[in-house]
Parts: sequence; structure tokens; C-alpha cells
Amino acid sequence: MVESKNFKALVVEEVQDNQFKRSVTEKSTDDLPAGDVLVRVHFSSLNYKDALSATGNKGVTRKYPHTPGIDAAGVVEQSSDERFKSGDEVIVTSYDLGMNTSGGFGQYIKVPADWVVPMPEAFSARESMLYGTAGFTAALSVYQLTQHNVLPENGDILVSGATGGVGGIAVSILSKMGYSVVAVNGLSDASDYLKDIGANSVISIDEATDKSDRPLLKAKWAGSIDTVGGDILATSIKSVKLSGTVTCCGNAASADLPLTVFPFILRGVMLIGIDSQNCPMPLRKKIWEKMAEDWRVPHFEQRVSEIGLDDLNQRIDIMMERKHQGRTVVKLP
Ligand SMILES: NC(=O)c1ccc[n+]([C@@H]2O[C@H](COP(=O)([O-])OP(=O)(O)OC[C@H]3O[C@@H](n4cnc5c(N)ncnc54)[C@H](OP(=O)(O)O)[C@@H]3O)[C@@H](O)[C@H]2O)c1
Repeated sequence: MVESKNFKALVVEEVQDNQFKRSVTEKSTDDLPAGDVLVRVHFSSLNYKDALSATGNKGVTRKYPHTPGIDAAGVVEQSSDERFKSGDEVIVTSYDLGMNTSGGFGQYIKVPADWVVPMPEAFSARESMLYGTAGFTAALSVYQLTQHNVLPENGDILVSGATGGVGGIAVSILSKMGYSVVAVNGLSDASDYLKDIGANSVISIDEATDKSDRPLLKAKWAGSIDTVGGDILATSIKSVKLSGTVTCCGNAASADLPLTVFPFILRGVMLIGIDSQNCPMPLRKKIWEKMAEDWRVPHFEQRVSEIGLDDLNQRIDIMMERKHQGRTVVKLP
């Protein structure tokens, strides 16, 4: 056994009922949960779910004190599972990491071997975290469009939440693959940014939201990647062409879906749920390999910012205020 080590981590504590405090604190590897693989984390990244966990959302994290971070990349320090040995570079994302298992905003994690993905050869730890769960979810969404015969020649693809991590990487991958992408702009004017990362055109949230209550709208999109739910998702489903496909991964706007069955029974529209958390390991590995190679988007990577553990507090607030753009990578000291 490796002797216990102290390490730095962001810790979220509940100081009073529903009041939370975040600080960078020293923890011990003895405090980590049981697990097969001890990983020294070198990089993590900030996702919307991390911001929810860090601000006390009990739908994401039931018990505090807690270290969030659904993404981690680093090196195996100890493994009781023969699939991994000390020195292996690995990625751990999703499952329960950072939700109710101490996560990637700490220098060490301990996890079941079944959660661990070998680092693709073409990626470093930092590069993998430029994508992280957001990139994985975007790539899984694009993969589902390709699996349902939504091809570049079929027409425009609508992407909502495009200023965010999932939406932004989806825009960039689709553009690299030759699709024409229409991005939904959020609160502040981000048209230049969205065009830089690959959008052909940009529409506002208002333009992406139908208020007429009609069951079907003019068919505009070959497919749609939705990250926000609610009226924007419903509007895109009503506006997809015959046999088009819509993927749904998030509820940043709303968990509701006000719809009738007509898009499905009159246009054969397919609605595909995206669950990065429980994605089976063979598909998980395939998607990571795609991101490291064919679907790698260097123009998006250049727009990612890097921070340290001490800067996370402020960045989490920025994300909750909807002022965060693109992706933030976290370098562990
Ligand atoms: N199913 C899965 O496996 C999975 C995996 C990862 C993420 N997700 C979900 O996907 C969503 C996006 O995650 P992310 O990491 O990309 O988050 P993010 O970086 O914070 O981006 C959120 C995006 O949603 C937009 N948005 C927020 N509130 C909105 C509203 N009321 N109306 C319209 N747009 C709104 C934001 O636009 P602004 O420019 O206005 O801020 C931003 O573009 C989240 O709901 C997250 O939980 C799901």
C-alpha cells in the first residue's frame, strides 16, 4: 500500500442549512473512498454540473463537505486492478466522480477501475481536459446524428447553448466535419466568438423559441443538438425536417418539454437522449479516441482558458451568473 499523502483540494462545506462555503483545503488520501485505482490528478475542467455541486445543489451532491470535479486526467499512482499499473496515463470522467465521490478538483482521486479510460495516444492530460465531459457529451451527440443518417448535405444543424462547453464543442466538431451550423446565442452578444469556433450563422434565443403553440413549424433543420431543454428544445423538434434527429443532453434552460406527438408521427423526427454518465465503456473509449484524432478541433482548443485551484471559486460564480464562455481547464498544482 502507498502511504497516505496530504493533498490540496477545493472543499465545499454546508455551513448552515443551504449556505455553502468553498475553500482550497488540505485533505488526506486516507479520506478518499474505497476504490481500485488511486490517480494523481494533473488537470480537471469546469462543467455546469460542477458549478451546481459547488453551489450546494442537492440533486447533484447529497452530502457535504465535498470536493466537486466530474473530470480528471492524470497518472495512476496505485492500482489493485490488473488493467492499470502505476505510471499509466488515464482519464476519469462522469459515473459518480465529483457528484458524491471526491472529484477532480483535488490532486488525488480514488475510483473503481471500471470508471478509468486509458489516455488516447494522441492526447496529453491537459489536452483531454480541454474537452472533458462537455466535449465527450458534444461528441456523443454528434455521433448520434451520424448514426441516424443526418449528413452534411441534408441541411443546417441547430445547436443551442452554443456559448457553453457542450454546445461550443458540438459547433466546432460539426463544422470540422463539413456540416453547416446555426448556433443559438445566449444572453450576451457572442456572434463573433460563435463564428470563430465554426458557426455559419447565429440566431438569438428569441428566434429559437416559438411562442405560437403550434404543434409543427416550418421545417428548417436537418438535425439539432440541444443542451438547454424547455421551449428551445420543443421549438427545434417542431422545426426539424422529415426523418431528422434531435439530441437532448441538458436542462440549462428548463427540464420541461412542451410538445405534442405530431413531430414524431407526421415527420418521423427522432429524439435521442444523451447520457454521458452511464455511457458503456466500449463506446466511451471509441468517443475519446475520435476526440483525440478525427474530431479534434484545434481552433476550439485555442479558445479554452486555464486556471489554478485558487481561481475556481470565482469561475464557478461566473458560470452560475451565465457569464462563462467556452471551456475552463483547471491545472492541479
Ligand atoms: N446528459 C449529459 O450527459 C450531460 C453532460 C454534460 C452536460 N450536460 C448538461 O448540458 C448542459 C450544458 O452544459 P455545459 O457544461 O455546456 O454548460 P455551460 O458551459 O454553462 O453552458 C450552458 C449554455 O446554456 C445556455 N443557457 C443557460 N441558461 C439558458 C436559458 N435559460 N435559456 C437558453 N440558454 C441558456 C448558456 O447560454 P448563455 O450564453 O446565455 O450563458 C450556455 O450557452 C447543462 O444542462 C448540463 O447539465 C449533460
